[in-house]
Amino acid sequence: MSKPLTIADLKTMARRRVPKMFFDYADSGAWTEGTYRANEDDFFKIKLRQRVLVDMTNRSLATTMVGQAAAMPVALAPTGMTGMQHADGEMLAAQAAEEFGVPFTLSTMSICSIEDVRSVTTKPFWFQLYVLKDRGFIERLIGRAKQAGCSALVVTADLQILGQRHKDIRNGLSAPPKWTLNSALQLATRPQWCLEMLRTKRRGFGNIVGHASNVSDLSSLGAWTAEQFDPRLSWDDIRWIKDLWGGKLIIKGILDEEDARAAADTGADAIIVSNHGGRQLDGAPSSISMLPKIVEAVGDRIEVHFDGGIRSGQDVLKAVALGAKGTYIGRPFLYGLGAMGKPGVTAALEIIRKEMDISMALCGKRDIQTCGHDIIADVKF
Ligand code: FNR
Repeated sequence: MSKPLTIADLKTMARRRVPKMFFDYADSGAWTEGTYRANEDDFFKIKLRQRVLVDMTNRSLATTMVGQAAAMPVALAPTGMTGMQHADGEMLAAQAAEEFGVPFTLSTMSICSIEDVRSVTTKPFWFQLYVLKDRGFIERLIGRAKQAGCSALVVTADLQILGQRHKDIRNGLSAPPKWTLNSALQLATRPQWCLEMLRTKRRGFGNIVGHASNVSDLSSLGAWTAEQFDPRLSWDDIRWIKDLWGGKLIIKGILDEEDARAAADTGADAIIVSNHGGRQLDGAPSSISMLPKIVEAVGDRIEVHFDGGIRSGQDVLKAVALGAKGTYIGRPFLYGLGAMGKPGVTAALEIIRKEMDISMALCGKRDIQTCGHDIIADVKF
């Protein structure tokens, strides 16, 4: 394929390069995938207001998220096992984000560790925390994020139990993984990917292996991970984390106005309106359809961020117009990473920036920070 022009182009390229089980891992939602599809489809229900003959020179997409500068209102979302889309994936994505000037969020379930990412970056990145049952491990993990200079902690609230994705089960992608002839065939047809993986030693969950008690190798890791998500997690735990961390705190996975108010009550700095990219509660509304209600409920008390279904810069513009101070992309950067490694992540960010810039100009605006409801012509969710 020639130079990718859209996120969909990057997705096609990633599908060709990444073994099916790992491509599917990124490209799947829970159960029927109805919420996953709605996340993308509902953006088409928002119509932008075309304006003409206004000065469109000297445009700016620059903004801040939790007080930190961002070249545009887009951060890389935390995604588990990113290092399986491309060897050393988290390190490459973090470098691409740093060079572009947008925040990178490292997942607890990353292949490269906090220290690995720290070793290849010069500016602070953000760390995403799953509050697992082993609270001693969580305390140590937060200590490591502080030590690495992470400048925001993103606590994920919507994964007390794991949603079910049929593709992962069929591909044997479980904890522990089930290796079959089919998985061997999937790997065999992607030799380039395999060669790159052979060159790196980073394959397990880097934040966990060797750091959680009794997790020393991939098989003990599988058993440990399978039972670590905590169904008892509560708002008290969020307050405990907030005190322990002491820095910028973002609560991720809010899709309900009542939960948004409870999140604002904790004194956190921001929430992320999110349904985990349609990977948790299939049947939940699309993320974008809930954004206006949540902004209405708490927008004057807490910074409201957004993720889910963004596939273009125009989608970012629409989310900002509906009240998001910042947004996150998950799959778009994973497709870029899978397609071409670090240049692919940069390409995803470039594509989004260009689409956002042109769309903003054609809405008659020069500064993303002034784009509000006045650029929306119509919304029907
Ligand atoms: C995720 N997401 C996620 N969220 C989180 O808080 N911690 C994690 O480890 C992961 N892991 C993960 C893996 C993969 C492969 C995907 C696609 C997503 C959810 C992610 O942060 C974000 O909410 C969604 O990806 C946003 O939707 P889009 O941009 O992918 O449509």
